This record gives sequence, structure tokens and C-alpha cells, in this order.
Amino acid sequence: MKNLKNLVDEYGSPLYCYDLDLISEKYDLLKDSIKNSKVLYAMKANYNPSILKSFLKMGAGIDAVSLGEVLLAMRIGFKPEDILYTANNATRQEIGEIHKKGVLVNFGSVGQLERFAVTHPSARVCLRFNPGVVAGDHEYTSTAGPDSKFGIRLADLPAIRDIIKNYNIKVVGIHQHTGSGLSEEEDFYRGVVTLTGLIDLFPDLEFVNVGGGIGVPYKEDQEQINVQRVGRTLRRMIPSELEVHVEPGKYLVAESGHLLVEVTDIKKTKNKTVVGVNSGMSQLIRPVLYGAYHHITNLSNPDGEKRVYDVVGNICESGDNFATNREISEIRLGNTLAIHNAGAYCYSMGSNYNLRPMPPEVTYRGEKTSLSRPGNMITDMIIKIIPIFYPDEINDPS
Ligand code: LLP
Repeated sequence: MKNLKNLVDEYGSPLYCYDLDLISEKYDLLKDSIKNSKVLYAMKANYNPSILKSFLKMGAGIDAVSLGEVLLAMRIGFKPEDILYTANNATRQEIGEIHKKGVLVNFGSVGQLERFAVTHPSARVCLRFNPGVVAGDHEYTSTAGPDSKFGIRLADLPAIRDIIKNYNIKVVGIHQHTGSGLSEEEDFYRGVVTLTGLIDLFPDLEFVNVGGGIGVPYKEDQEQINVQRVGRTLRRMIPSELEVHVEPGKYLVAESGHLLVEVTDIKKTKNKTVVGVNSGMSQLIRPVLYGAYHHITNLSNPDGEKRVYDVVGNICESGDNFATNREISEIRLGNTLAIHNAGAYCYSMGSNYNLRPMPPEVTYRGEKTSLSRPGNMITDMIIKIIPIFYPDEINDPS
């Protein structure tokens, strides 16, 4: 295990750090578990450039959900044909621009597909279906089900058939994504079954994309999903001549990351010991947004006696909690704490709320460490708010 405390000594805190070896290990295991497959990394989980570069080197593709993600992926070196763009209520301009770059568009709406087909007859597309399955580790991370905003309902198949016929559209891929953080293999298969039932409707099909969602253990007593078994099962479900595409985020990067923070205050309240740190929900929002559990260890006193703490952040919100009633080795002022499993949807969901900058990011392979991205500076944030070319009166409409 990497000595994370040394990273703080070198780079300061708060600090995000990522283990690139672990990411490679997980990618290889998944890729090797599914014959005739393509792994598209869901870059929404973490768009750190060193992580993206390492996926490029390993031969991964990209699952992108915005023009910004497509442009960044292409800038890193991903070829347009290795990117799938899944449009969520995107504008016609965004979809058109991305299609023009040679990136395949994944449509999850009949209306959006039709409006696109009118101006792009004979185009190749992928279709995202709503498998009707509700699954995921939180209400907000479930991306299917009867009233979900995502995907095309099976009831809309006749309309889809008409669009394909009228505009000579080539459906080269079908897709589903049930939800994030699926801890039961069965939840994954339930969505895939819906897709396999559609294969015969699309004669131009080249691949079946089963989405992402493979869960990872956030709590110490949780187990890893057996991806080798998942791979074998998927290959039994999907005809061998069709490629299987998977697009995980969490599975590939969640466990690689840690947010390292410093204890800035310790307060006794009526019933608790509340530990304040130099980070907060602006830098890692999952506990507040989803009630997510992130394991926390005290790097400065790893073998100390366990005590019970609330660990709270530096943001002006009562909900700004990293952990409640958590057993951690005895904490003293100035100690360094590690918030684990912080590689997915942590930095990428960060913000400058309360005008706090985002921390720097460091990546490592074994003992080799490098600063992947500096944190943003307070001065940078202020310049963005008051660009230097604004006249002084801009804030004074009178
Ligand atoms: N494909 C599609 C179409 C998706 O919508 C998502 C995630 C993925 C792939 C990747 O899912 P993953 O393998 O990472 O579970 N912010 C939430 C997760 C939201 C996921 C949204 N879509 C969290 O922190 O748990």
C-alpha cells in the first residue's frame, strides 16, 4: 500500500491522489473477462487527464455525455470511432456537432432521434432503451424504470421502426444502462435480457452495449462483483458475432482514489466529538447527495485506539458531513485523514461553492508519483468572476 501520508508531506492538503496501477489492473481484468468486447470508460466518473491518457494507452474507448467530454477525449487522443456519445436532452446543435466529428450518437429519445434523422438521413446511430428495471445504490443513481428520463420505452418501438424506414437510419448498436453501483449481478442481467430480445429487430447491428453500473465495495465488509462470471454470462446471453460493449466508471476508478485532508478543529458538542477538516462537500459531495459511505482512516495515527467521531467539512452548510458516528483511530489536531474510494464522481462532481478552490490531483504508479493537475487558485476563481476586461461599473446598474 502506498504511503499516502508522504504525498501530503510533498504536495500539501487537501489533495486528491489516484493509483494508476490499480486502474490498469481493473481494466485488464474486465477486458479479459469478456470475449470480443470493448470497454468504454465512463469519463464522467473522473476526467483527470493522466487517468484518461492511461485508458488511451490500454486501448479503451470512451463513454461521453457532453460536447465538453467529447472534446477533451479527442484532445487526449481518443479517435472519434472509439467514443460513444450518449445524448441527455442535448441541443440539436450539440448532437449535430458531435455527429460531424465522426462520433457515434446514442439516442435515448424518439423525438430527438426523429429530429436528427430528418437532417441526417442514412446516419449510423446507437439506440438507448429503458429496460424498465429499477436498480442502483440510491434513488438518484437509478437510470431506468417506468418514469425514468433516460432511454426509449419498448412501447415506442413502432415509432422507432418508422423513423429507421423513412430516413434509412442504420442502427449499429443497442444500449441500456440500469443504474450505478449495482451490487447484485442479477440487476445487471435483468436489463441486458431486455436488449437481447431486441437484437433481431436491427439487421445492421454491430454491438450490444450493456452500460456501466458494476458496483464496488465502499464498506469494508462488501464484496467485489465477480467480473469473470459476469463476462462469461454476458457472452452466453449475446450472440458471439456481436461485440459486447461495457461502459463502467465506478468499477474502473472508484477504489483508485483517496482525498487526503487535514484536521483543522476538534469540537465537543453535547453528544459528540466533531472533527473539522480542510475540505468539504464542494470537493466531495457523495455523502451529502446520496448518503454515500466513504471509509475514513487516520494516516497520522493508524494504530491508535478507535474512537467515535463525526467528520465534517469547511462549507457553510449543516449537511456538510463526510461521516457520522464513525469509528476512527484517535484523531488529534493537524492529523491527516484519508477519505477512501474517492476516485469516481468525487473530483468530477466538485465545485467552487463558498469560493473554495478544488485541490490538486496527483497520480502514482508504485513509487513513481507525479502532479497530474495543480489545484485551482483562489485568484483564478476571482478572475473568472470579475474578468479583467469588465469595466468597473459592471456591478452597478445605476
Ligand atoms: N453509462 C451511462 C449511460 C451512465 O449514465 C453512467 C452513469 C455510466 C455508464 C457509468 O456508470 P458507473 O459504472 O460509473 O456506475 N454520481 C453518481 C453516479 C451517477 C452515474 C450516472 N451515470 C455517484 O456518485 O454514485
